[in-house]
Amino acid sequence: MAAEVAKERATLKESGIIDARSLKRSHKRLAEILQPRMTVLDIGCGTGAITSGIAEIVGPNGRVIGIDNNPALIEKARQNYKNIPGLTFEIADIYNLPFHNEFDIVTSARVLQWLENPQTALNQMVQSTKHNGQVLVLDYNHTKISWEPDIPETMQNFYDAFLKWRSDAGMDNEIADHLTKMFEESGLTNLKVTVQNEMTKRTDNDFQKHIEILAGVASSKGIQMVNDGTITESQRARAEDDFRKWINERAKSQVMYLLAVEGTKKSN
Ligand SMILES: C[S@@+](CC[C@H](N)C(=O)[O-])C[C@H]1O[C@@H](n2cnc3c(N)ncnc32)[C@H](O)[C@@H]1O
Repeated sequence: MAAEVAKERATLKESGIIDARSLKRSHKRLAEILQPRMTVLDIGCGTGAITSGIAEIVGPNGRVIGIDNNPALIEKARQNYKNIPGLTFEIADIYNLPFHNEFDIVTSARVLQWLENPQTALNQMVQSTKHNGQVLVLDYNHTKISWEPDIPETMQNFYDAFLKWRSDAGMDNEIADHLTKMFEESGLTNLKVTVQNEMTKRTDNDFQKHIEILAGVASSKGIQMVNDGTITESQRARAEDDFRKWINERAKSQVMYLLAVEGTKKSN
């Protein structure tokens, strides 16, 4: 399937979920390895919620660039975080990065899952990294999500169709578990894998926000799936309604399987 199809399916039409993220909660391994004065490239930065946290840690003597191929998100990021020293946002595509050996850390969080050719993207990340610098990717295995109790059958059917809609466009639903092999193919060394699963329980203060993620998928990506003829509007709407009822009456927990994989770019 053409690269344009993957690009269209990856386009974020609504930024509520990514706006609510933060470095400390949503990119924990990166928060552990950041140091003042570092230079960092955050690829697929969206509206900059995580990127701004990176800039706060590296401080005014560091440099942070957030890039995204969606101009509307970059515009929002610039509005949201205009007064943080050393932080800039640029429109750029991960497949065609204008950087060579420039950054101490090059990271992308929840981005490679949306690409039809993530190995090429990873090679571009390596190109942008300094020798002895770090590449750090955070991503999901969507086939390993779990809920307690089981979600309604209508939503399970929607989720299965969603994963097929993604894989039909060349996206890897299990990318978290393929990153190590991809890092080896890119020539990265000293690989380290950290489990960063996102768990939410009914007793958590922010349970509603996290458990609703799949309802958000149904109301945003679900519309694209209907337009593509993957499912009907009544299947989409029924799945969303049943799932929201499940959230209100029965949901106890959800675990999203998420790994951080890091590696070092060899010196010359
Ligand atoms: C799920 S969001 C993740 C945003 C943020 N990194 C986070 O973890 O909250 C994926 C982001 O990747 C961006 N993206 C997708 N394809 C891209 C590409 N080819 N080049 C640059 N950014 C891309 C999207 O526009 C979107 O902002």
